Amino acid sequence: MEKIIVNGGRKLCGEVEISSAKNSILPIIASSILTNEKCIIENAPMLEDVFVICEVLENLNSKINIDKESRMITIDNSNLKLNEPSHNLVRKMRASFLTMGAMVARFGEFKISLPGGCNIGSRPIDLHLKGFKALGVQVEVGYGYVEAKVSKLKGNNIYLDFPSVGATENIMMAAVMAEGETIIENAAEEPEIVDLAKFLNSMGAKIIGAGTDKLRIIGVNRLNGARHRPIYDRIEAGTFMVAAAITRSKLKVINVSEEHVKPIIAKLTEMNVGIEIDKNSIIVDGDRDLKPVDIKTMPYPGFPTDMQAQMMALLCTVKGTGVITETIFENRFMHASELKRMGANIKLDGRSAIIEGVEHLTGAEVKATDLRAGAALILAGLGADGCTKIGDIYHIDRGYVDIEKKLKKVGAQIERISESDIKVV
Ligand code: UD1
Repeated sequence: MEKIIVNGGRKLCGEVEISSAKNSILPIIASSILTNEKCIIENAPMLEDVFVICEVLENLNSKINIDKESRMITIDNSNLKLNEPSHNLVRKMRASFLTMGAMVARFGEFKISLPGGCNIGSRPIDLHLKGFKALGVQVEVGYGYVEAKVSKLKGNNIYLDFPSVGATENIMMAAVMAEGETIIENAAEEPEIVDLAKFLNSMGAKIIGAGTDKLRIIGVNRLNGARHRPIYDRIEAGTFMVAAAITRSKLKVINVSEEHVKPIIAKLTEMNVGIEIDKNSIIVDGDRDLKPVDIKTMPYPGFPTDMQAQMMALLCTVKGTGVITETIFENRFMHASELKRMGANIKLDGRSAIIEGVEHLTGAEVKATDLRAGAALILAGLGADGCTKIGDIYHIDRGYVDIEKKLKKVGAQIERISESDIKVV
């Protein structure tokens, strides 16, 4: 078991390069199922979750080459089989369920384990299933599995009760090969949806309106292979922007689309963090007198739930009171108790957290309870006095490429060590 050790209280300085978006590449890899021809993904982030989705496809007899050096993933689905992906793999990552729409479109049937809940809430799949049913799919859920069957997918009008990112993606992947036209209303508008639509359209799909709440999908008979470079990771960018703020330092974050991080820029600006936009990079100046803010997480273009934990860490270090309201996930404050171990003053009241800034966070032994919670603890460690030891860092490796190396490069004292090393220290 590995841990990340952070010696806090140091200023950061320099440039950080952001990798491609995890949440873009996962559905894009799943959508390659729709074609017999080769698909190539450039500048792929070498992340645990990416390896897991590739393994899920390999369970389906996909031939995948991951070139870690050039960060290129080549997928050949010409001999894909209607296998059942391993239960243990599907349990590892909810996004495995994103293979459902594409598999049903390609084979007319598919059986996969129920993805189940996770640390941040129960996370049902009812909206995915509602969409499939509207396209004519017979869906059965039982004995821990979802089984889907259809003789011919038929386009339909679908209204999502909530703009779920995963449901929008899964339904899109099924609808591109359906007969006729599908309209998805109250669709998710996230940049990752736009990226998936762009990839699918380059494969020959006809998707109109991605990035708005209404998607129009005109079914086609076949899709061809395609080459794609995913968008940059707006959440990784936001995490490094907060790294500058929490250490009261100046950092240049390279490979960011201003459009994608607008809600993060808005909140940091309200906190008096300096923001300078320069083409595809953002200079963040946290060396100022910062003010607390209130934050409410919302579907895009609202404030992202995936930045909530990091902002909580920052608010812990800012004099005054800030309130965070989490509206997307039912149980996404697990990091609060870990931050309290570091001296934070946080009170939880249902879906809200009231954060009273303290003079100094203090290093402590803590655990990453999920991916973004883990990132928040690294940030808290950077801004704290003394040494923070973060355990269960496999959560962090799911979604951040070389986080400790990138932070080290800009002056952080941060190490990854294995449990046996810790005993020696
Ligand atoms: C995606 C992101 C995740 C992000 C989340 C919200 C990926 C791989 N993951 O997750 O990082 O935190 O969007 O921005 O892209 N819901 C239902 N029924 C459903 C589907 C969802 O009730 O059928 C609920 C969920 O329980 C949750 C909310 O809708 O409370 C948002 O979920 P959703 O947008 O689907 O998130 P994911 O696609 O799982």
